[in-house]
Amino acid sequence: MRHALTRIPVTSGVVRRFVAGESRLDLAPVVRELLASGRMVSVDFLGEHTTERSMADNAVTEYLALIDDLAAGDGEGSASVRRVEVSVKLSALGQTLGEGGPEIATANLRTLCLRAEQAGVWVTVDAEDHTTTDATLDTVRRLRGEFPWLAVAVQAYLRRAETECRELASLGARIRLCKGAYREPEALAHRRRAEVDSAYLRCLDVLMRGAGYPMVATHDPDMIAVASRFALENALGSSEYEFQMLYGIRDAEQRRLVDAGRSVRVYVPYGNQWYGYLMRRLAERPANLGFFLRALADKR
Ligand code: FDA
Repeated sequence: MRHALTRIPVTSGVVRRFVAGESRLDLAPVVRELLASGRMVSVDFLGEHTTERSMADNAVTEYLALIDDLAAGDGEGSASVRRVEVSVKLSALGQTLGEGGPEIATANLRTLCLRAEQAGVWVTVDAEDHTTTDATLDTVRRLRGEFPWLAVAVQAYLRRAETECRELASLGARIRLCKGAYREPEALAHRRRAEVDSAYLRCLDVLMRGAGYPMVATHDPDMIAVASRFALENALGSSEYEFQMLYGIRDAEQRRLVDAGRSVRVYVPYGNQWYGYLMRRLAERPANLGFFLRALADKR
């Protein structure tokens, strides 16, 4: 399956629905259009679990160029809320290179943050599978002193999520709350939909009452409705929290929220390492499978 799928070019409909393209050249018009529609962006250069130092170095080089491109394309940089952001997986920056990996990833992330600070671009660290959570939070804690705008994703399905939300919110951090996209052991994570949703709402409550900047990353209409209510109850203006959705998912809802005066950021992945990303989208919404298989059949 992997072999067949990775032979689909990134230009094919199935990949292009969720991935902006292979290169920064493909990405540019997508970002331009999203910004023109009033949405903000968080761009992810696809790649994870690097096995060689050179791959981590390449990721850093690409991200530095990406940060420069995004800054140049953002005509309306604002001091309080940055319209352009990059999303980074620490495993792409070397975290999983074995002993010393977390140190390499931390140094690489610092390099990106220094450039982002100069360019007026934000950085959010993605949350990966549970084996990386401690190392990721440790890196973010260490760098937040220098870069207080550095954000991290928290996965509500993890049983530890509420505690993390409390700590990060008390520090005034930007926090992206998502449900979580990896298959985790029941001992560490809620697995049933209703439990994940309740955990999400508990975390959301903590974030919306806290001193940080909540980033509500979900396509779920129920979560979106409750987030809007919590924002109202806590008198949060539209620049004090934001909604986030993935590129290619619920575009009409993204536009509806913008029209209603809400801040919306779209997570836009690009690059040719799209297999893992697409598989997670498929796993969380099997309805996408038919679409996927039809595209595959068309290629043969
Ligand atoms: P869920 O998948 O439970 O769906 C709930 C409802 O939402 C559905 O019943 C339907 O009504 C609606 N819906 C969902 N998908 C739809 C679609 N394609 N079309 C129409 N309606 C749809 N994960 C992670 O582990 N680490 C991370 O760093 C991130 N980062 C991240 C950033 C951003 C911006 C987003 C939006 C998501 C992530 N995620 C993530 C992924 C996240 O953890 C989760 O897997 C997906 O967002 C799916 O969960 P939802 O909250 O969207 O709802």
